[in-house]
Amino acid sequence: MQVLELMKQRCSVRQYQDRRIERDKLLYVLEAARVAPSACNNQPWRLIVIEDQALLAKIAPAWVSAAHTPAVIVACGDHQQAWKRADGKDHCDIDIAIAVDHMTLAAAEIGLGTCWICAFDAKRCAQVLNLPERLEPVALLPIGYPADGKSPDRHATDRKPLEQIVTWMPARTE
Ligand SMILES: Cc1cc2nc3c(=O)[nH]c(=O)nc-3n(C[C@H](O)[C@H](O)[C@H](O)COP(=O)(O)O)c2cc1C
Repeated sequence: MQVLELMKQRCSVRQYQDRRIERDKLLYVLEAARVAPSACNNQPWRLIVIEDQALLAKIAPAWVSAAHTPAVIVACGDHQQAWKRADGKDHCDIDIAIAVDHMTLAAAEIGLGTCWICAFDAKRCAQVLNLPERLEPVALLPIGYPADGKSPDRHATDRKPLEQIVTWMPARTE
């Protein structure tokens, strides 16, 4: 599959089949995070795979359990390992975002659905998982066999057109 086709096929899935994910499929998705680029190749990520439903209910918004989500990957950023620019900007969030995006695409390729979650209680999540201070839970990634889906054609209307988001310097018309 062409990569752009895969990108259009990926969508946020918020309902899952009540079905466990095979270990090799989870490993495939996690491998996609492992090979992600990061600032200075510092790889400041820690991925926690939660399949325990009671634990999952404590760290994720209520809809995640209600959606029959079989697993959630907690994507954590290590602020001690992350590269900081000369002006002090910590690149942890950027690195984690790339790794998570890699995972969403790898999952879509093998028929799994995912949904980025940043609207969660990160402090509570860190406490429940007993994370050291340097590790920040940046995103939750529910993952499972989809019970809902979206049309790959949705981007024609669901996304801003290129003219609104791209500036050419100098202007280019052909
Ligand atoms: C950084 C980020 C944070 C997001 N946080 C949430 C969230 O907390 N809850 C949720 O249901 N969806 C969340 N989403 C999913 C977006 O709503 C979704 O990607 C967007 O509406 C486009 O839809 P699509 O992913 O199906 O193409 C998030 C997406 C991104 C990239």
